[in-house]
Amino acid sequence: MKTMRITKEHENHYREHGYAVVDSFCEADELTAALKNFDEVVPGWAEFAKDPSGSRPEYFSSPFPDQRGIPHFPYKGDALNRLTFHSELSRFATLMGEGEEMYCEQSHLTYKATGQSPKQGNVDQHMHLDYGNHTLAYPPDVPKFWQTAFLYYFTDVTLDCGPTAVCSKKYYPERILFPRHYSPEARPEIYDNEVKVVCPAGSLLIYGMRTFHRGTAITGTSHARLGMFVTYAPKACRWMGIVGWPVSAGKKEFHEWVVGASVSERSLIGFPEPGHEFWTEETLDGVAARFSGIDMTPYRDS
Ligand SMILES: [Fe+2]
Repeated sequence: MKTMRITKEHENHYREHGYAVVDSFCEADELTAALKNFDEVVPGWAEFAKDPSGSRPEYFSSPFPDQRGIPHFPYKGDALNRLTFHSELSRFATLMGEGEEMYCEQSHLTYKATGQSPKQGNVDQHMHLDYGNHTLAYPPDVPKFWQTAFLYYFTDVTLDCGPTAVCSKKYYPERILFPRHYSPEARPEIYDNEVKVVCPAGSLLIYGMRTFHRGTAITGTSHARLGMFVTYAPKACRWMGIVGWPVSAGKKEFHEWVVGASVSERSLIGFPEPGHEFWTEETLDGVAARFSGIDMTPYRDS
């Protein structure tokens, strides 16, 4: 059996506190490939992160030409797409969701550096819950409705390099988690008990829609931090999800990805699964025509 990178200890910590940090989740070759791939998607950033005293890369002070000004899945190249669908992420989300089938509702890159403006994310955020743009409704304390968020860090996160701050759920035991933002004056105990996620490159933070956390600004004089947000949600819950993937389905990157992806990876973004009544001679031929090169056999055989 493959070793589980998210261990029982991480699971116990997550259940008790609402978050867990998996140090060095990525293997060395995965991290190298992710950084190389990062530079293909957002040119120059991985190089810049190595030496932030060098010249500023593209999109340092302008939005990226994708949804919400941020690079989203599907990415050019393989490494970031693969980490989005790493089997440990869906396994852990399903475990937390007590067996609910999951889908990937978010995958986008994050990059910040000394000298970037607050508008680009280099800012001390207030403590908040992420459900504001991840659900149309409310995240109940019922595991089968839990969304699980993952934040990959591809560069070392030190105290002066904008670590994420997160607070154990012991410090906000109220029944209804609203409002979902607090200033330090309004809820000092959430700030006083925050933990800064300092970790080596390749680590993973796991949290949920009921976990107070905040991004912090880079205070070092020459630093950069690269990462990727990935979130899984129960597939049955149409009211959850930060993006609709069909908006990207016309992109070249999507075509490349969908042709190379496994059936289960496709299902993880909501592509109709084999055996679904959607599949008819018409839809089999239509999808094959639209995405030339895709192997329709698993859908045809079911
Ligand atoms: Fe957040």
